[in-house]
Amino acid sequence: MAMCGIVGYVGEREALPIVLGSLQRIEYRGYDSCGILVQDSANGQVYMHKGLESIDELMEILPLCDYHGNIGIGHTRWATHGTPSVRNAHPHLDCNGEIAVVHNGIIENFQSLKEGLLRNCRFRSDTDTEVIPHLIENTLMRIRDSGESGEELLKDAIRESLSYLKGSYAIIVAIKGFDGLIAARRESPLIIGVGDRENFIASDVPAVLEQTNRVIYLEEGDIAVVKKDGIYIENGAVEVKRVVRLIPWTIEDAEKGGYEHFMLKEIHEEPKAIIDTLRGYLTETGIELGFDARHDIMMVACGTSYYAALCGKYIIEHIARIPVQVELASEFNYSDTVLGDDKTVIAMTQSGETADTLMALKKAKRFGCHTVAITNVVGSSVTRIADDTVYIRAGPEIGVAATKSFIAQLVTIYLLGLYLADIPRHDLEGWIEELKRLPQLAQMVIDDSNAVIQDIARYLAGFENVFFVGRGVNLPVALEGALKLKEISYIHAEGYAAGELKHGPFALLTNATPVVAILSNDNVYEKLLGNIKEIKARDAPVVAVAVEGDDEIEKYVDAVIRVPATRALLSPIPNSVALHLLAYWAAKARGCEIDKPRNLAKSVTVE
Ligand code: M6R
Repeated sequence: MAMCGIVGYVGEREALPIVLGSLQRIEYRGYDSCGILVQDSANGQVYMHKGLESIDELMEILPLCDYHGNIGIGHTRWATHGTPSVRNAHPHLDCNGEIAVVHNGIIENFQSLKEGLLRNCRFRSDTDTEVIPHLIENTLMRIRDSGESGEELLKDAIRESLSYLKGSYAIIVAIKGFDGLIAARRESPLIIGVGDRENFIASDVPAVLEQTNRVIYLEEGDIAVVKKDGIYIENGAVEVKRVVRLIPWTIEDAEKGGYEHFMLKEIHEEPKAIIDTLRGYLTETGIELGFDARHDIMMVACGTSYYAALCGKYIIEHIARIPVQVELASEFNYSDTVLGDDKTVIAMTQSGETADTLMALKKAKRFGCHTVAITNVVGSSVTRIADDTVYIRAGPEIGVAATKSFIAQLVTIYLLGLYLADIPRHDLEGWIEELKRLPQLAQMVIDDSNAVIQDIARYLAGFENVFFVGRGVNLPVALEGALKLKEISYIHAEGYAAGELKHGPFALLTNATPVVAILSNDNVYEKLLGNIKEIKARDAPVVAVAVEGDDEIEKYVDAVIRVPATRALLSPIPNSVALHLLAYWAAKARGCEIDKPRNLAKSVTVE
């Protein structure tokens, strides 16, 4: 489960209200189901509730007297494996109901582990997580005979069980009769809140801030035994000491991970969105998306998702040599376009709830087309209409501006292009290697170019009109750059095909209309350079987004935002990260309300 929230409490107070309160503090991340487990160390009783209710509702319906105990764990689920349902909600238990696990992350090899475990265990959910309690149970049974007991036995069993897992996890394990909780992390954040004769565990700092501002950040590979009056941490079976940090944030700051806005936090999460999306579909032998497409592809979408789909046309046509048609959902719905049933129609929608896109997909179904949803939200309406679904795994996106979801949509499209392509194995491997570099390249834009982008954004913030131009696969990137700028900074921005400016918009070019040009090392580079010279001849200031090492561009433009080089077809990723930052800093310079721009909503459920 990627992007779930997990919490734990061990102390002297009643665990239930503390666990629910902590879950409430991370509700802003979004969830589709939740669960809690409370353990009474005095009499060994365990109480569990899982459901589709909100945390507020749980606070109403769970009577404290029935859920009595001072050890507790809780989970808010944002589904990735298995639909949102009671059976898939956490905690997940071993066969005897004595080992309970809440998990954030993705267990990549859960299928093969599950097959091995099925001989002895009864699985009750469709989740990847459930292999963990069963693995711990099996390992415990096996090593119990070695003569070890108590805490040492538990640590050994958990250490060994975790060594079988591939993928990412932050987990909290509650074991019946044990007077503490065991927590562990790999590639998913996990913290311990340090209290007085009580301790807290959580995936996110806001979950514990109401109780304590003393926090230990667990490190990669750490396993911690957390009791009410002690915390033991080991790494590689050796005890380690971790510093206790004082968190100076308010709860609101902490929800944003210390960033001023969700949008900035989400741009910083773009590298992770790429990793998680790739991780979901790369297999040992290549790429698996789980469906067969028909001969022709059509994509329907709105807004930023439409621009991702437009990139998809360039990408899929180049890699797979399959014709791709892209339509704005709102236009397609009332058009006379007739579709043959030899088409696969793909709805691109991060929320899965956009009314125009849902309507377009239903129309495609009426023509007998094969339908596929590409979305970020498990169980969303589009998944119930489409024949097949591919999840983009960006994690919850709170800012109205789509940022990390756009990046994850692009990654999904690269995967789709390669999945559909009939190319030699060696070429496929070359593409996959380069895809795996993308998180690092996105991170380089964030780390190395942010200062320059801030300067340029402050400069652009002084204008009322900005053009964004690109060619080829970077044309939709220019359109997305313009949409992002106008949406959050309220600067009028137009995205244009660079070769089209001379057919009309040239009339608008003056020294008061800056132009942002998006380049890459591709077959249209020289052409775009020619367009830039024409623009400069009309006095318009030009900002280029160009790759490191392109020395030529500096001669023709006023400022350059540098991005790391990759294959030209993959350049929309680093370029878009740069444009998201540009829009953010311009809006910030103009004092706009960035996360909730006026008149806009995160999902547009009306036609
Ligand atoms: O949820 P969807 O991807 O279907 O949303 C489509 C558009 O409403 C959305 O991309 C919108 O344009 C964003 N505000 C752009 O940042």
